[in-house]
Amino acid sequence: MCGVLLLLLLLCSSQTNHFYGTVMTFTPQDLRNNGSVTVVCRYKTSFRSCSDGDAWDCAGGDCGSHTLELSVVDTLDGDWCQKEGVMRRRVPDTEPFQLRLSGGDWISGVRNGVRSWLAITRVDLRVRSDLGQPNRSPQTTVLPALRVPSNCRRDFDLLAFDPDGDEVKCRYGDAGAQECNPCRPPSLLTVSPSCTLTFHSSSSSSEGPYAVQVEMEDFPKQNISLLQRDGVKITRTPSDALSKIPLRFALIVDPAVPSCTDGLYLPKFLPPTPASRAQLVAFVNLNLEITIKAEATSAQVSGVFFSGPHGTTKQEVSEGHFLLNWTPPEGSEEETHPMCFVVRAVKRSLV
Ligand SMILES: *[C@@H]1O[C@H](CO)[C@@H](O)[C@H](O)[C@H]1NC(C)=O
Ligand SMILES: *[C@@H]1O[C@H](CO)[C@@H](O)[C@H](O)[C@H]1NC(C)=O
Repeated sequence: MCGVLLLLLLLCSSQTNHFYGTVMTFTPQDLRNNGSVTVVCRYKTSFRSCSDGDAWDCAGGDCGSHTLELSVVDTLDGDWCQKEGVMRRRVPDTEPFQLRLSGGDWISGVRNGVRSWLAITRVDLRVRSDLGQPNRSPQTTVLPALRVPSNCRRDFDLLAFDPDGDEVKCRYGDAGAQECNPCRPPSLLTVSPSCTLTFHSSSSSSEGPYAVQVEMEDFPKQNISLLQRDGVKITRTPSDALSKIPLRFALIVDPAVPSCTDGLYLPKFLPPTPASRAQLVAFVNLNLEITIKAEATSAQVSGVFFSGPHGTTKQEVSEGHFLLNWTPPEGSEEETHPMCFVVRAVKRSLV
């Protein structure tokens, strides 16, 4: 059995009062003859400290019963801690339901006027006519903080993979649809439908943290139908979203750097680091090792930070040379596991 491991590389000068974002994906498993389904919802929640936390609740429809396993993924001491929750839900039928994470407050000093957090996942497990099985959500993950110097224009491709081959689109949360509270997207960061974030360089007065609240949806590439409980088939066209998952994270605008060229003050990845959006095949009970190499000639590369399946370990071999290791556990086959990482570059201290 094998699963696909997806990688997203974010190049940023990451050095990486409280909430630092969340993301959730889901994969249905085990559709029974009586219509009940088990769905695996994997989520990340990020806070200042590993002792902080918050739980997803049911916000519409029958969310069934669940078990939850919560583990730390990665942490940057004193800055953030990201955990992964693996929530197995058994629902009595394939009808849609929603899960919600809400509370307060985001990290202090958020510049775009967002204090409360709100994130909603829409799950619809009605059997698709094209696949003969329920829909799977897009696969993605994100680090708690995306850092960028105020004077550098940057593009970041969010990891956006759909295991069913659907078209994945991104947009900012919509206040009218009560997707966030409030939504107020930061004007210096735009998101394209193809899930590329563009940071428009600005002045030093824009420095500080921003709450980024993106919704990711999957659309069928042609008309399909979904089979309802009562046997009626309803049509979904390429403009109807099949599911919706939230991405919440902080954008941190740092002081300007003398040069925006990759490899000077901002780190540049070197071979054999996997390419952005690379797909790697991993096998249950077999270790997968990922080598990451990066350089920044006018700074010091010191540390790698990742968001991926819990149980992944990291190791610094030498300056700018890191290893990530992960062994897919039994039961993780038939799922895809998104992974992204950043390296941190800091000013060289003068000796
Ligand atoms: C459906 O079947 C499963 C396993 O056979 C059982 O656990 C579940 O309670 C059943 N659900 C309903 C609604 O009958
Ligand atoms: C898809 O479904 C819509 C709505 O039912 C319909 O108007 C359209 O003609 C269909 N398109 C195709 C290619 O069948």
